[in-house]
Amino acid sequence: MKQAIFTNNLGENLSRFLSKKNYSQYFILMDENTQQHCLPVLQQEAPDLATAVRITVYAGEEHKSLQAVEYVWKRLTEEKADRHAVLINLGGGMVTDLGGFAASTYKRGIDFIHVPTTLLAQVDAAIGGKNGIDFMNYKNQIGVFRQPAAIFVHDGFLKTLPDQQIISGFAEVVKHALLAGGKLWKTIRSMESLSNVGWKDMISESMAVKLAVVEEDPKEKHVRKVLNFGHTIGHAIESLLISRKQESYHGHCIAAGMLGELYLSEKCCGLHEEKRKEVSAVIEKHFPKIIFKEEDSDALMDLMKQDKKNAGSAIRFVLLHKIGQAVIDVEADELMIREALKSIYSE
Ligand SMILES: NC(=O)c1ccc[n+]([C@@H]2O[C@H](COP(=O)([O-])OP(=O)(O)OC[C@H]3O[C@@H](n4cnc5c(N)ncnc54)[C@H](O)[C@@H]3O)[C@@H](O)[C@H]2O)c1
Repeated sequence: MKQAIFTNNLGENLSRFLSKKNYSQYFILMDENTQQHCLPVLQQEAPDLATAVRITVYAGEEHKSLQAVEYVWKRLTEEKADRHAVLINLGGGMVTDLGGFAASTYKRGIDFIHVPTTLLAQVDAAIGGKNGIDFMNYKNQIGVFRQPAAIFVHDGFLKTLPDQQIISGFAEVVKHALLAGGKLWKTIRSMESLSNVGWKDMISESMAVKLAVVEEDPKEKHVRKVLNFGHTIGHAIESLLISRKQESYHGHCIAAGMLGELYLSEKCCGLHEEKRKEVSAVIEKHFPKIIFKEEDSDALMDLMKQDKKNAGSAIRFVLLHKIGQAVIDVEADELMIREALKSIYSE
């Protein structure tokens, strides 16, 4: 099923969409922060939602959990939601993943709508039909593929989003730009800072990159893997920081991962050295450095060996041959990967 996507006039488009659908009941799922910052915006834009039943969960990745899903199912049941009800997920990727999963499983599936409120959710998490929760310390261990009935993107929500969350989401915008090349990359290359950015166009262009990829390969059998650029090393760094209870923003780790994988792209995939330096400089300008020591390489190598994309013992990467041209399933040997780790922030 192809979902409807709206990137402007939130209130008008949402009201029109809801009136056509004839849903029996509206439910809005939020976390504590989006209830405070985003619900008033949504209600002002779409007064039809004044009577919607609100369901609020705690904020934070640790609440993308079975316990939180159970709470959503419980609230839907208590409010006698039938199969024609709709769940509107108002939040970042944590809420859209959780709400998409809860709705997909309640009474064998009711409609859900994503209203993403973080940059990451707008350009990435809300798109592509992956819904799920974390389980037994494994991320996204339980989940389903199912498309939302619609996605409504409103850049106004970003006004209250903390700066570090904006920077974190920007990593996925950079990744999309490197995968697609063209205008989006040109815009990013010329940006001096992330303050006073007009996000609207950049969000639309970034969404379009992800949409094109997931429409071609909805269940990640082949080309969708390109979206993992930067994520083999990036996820390992993120897992290392989490295991040490150090502060970690997903996008900051992915930015560091992209630096390492750009190095591998040059060594294993023919990316021109000058291009690699140019892209690395752009990343280094916008993202904070994550400091790790050379001896952390062993732990990072172990974490990468557990990556889902691997086949046998070889570690596999998505690398860039050129900007706008990615190559999937590239195996790199251990020495080269260790060099790539060393190269991160060392120039
Ligand atoms: N389904 C997918 O394809 C996909 C893709 C990428 C990431 N994800 C998932 O997305 C999640 C991360 O999403 P995220 O980075 O959006 O994190 P998040 O949803 O946890 O939001 C980050 C923080 O910002 C707050 N917040 C959200 N919107 C706000 C706003 N407008 N103003 C003020 N505060 C606001 C939240 O309450 C939270 O504290 C992870 O669980 C990840 O696995 C899913």
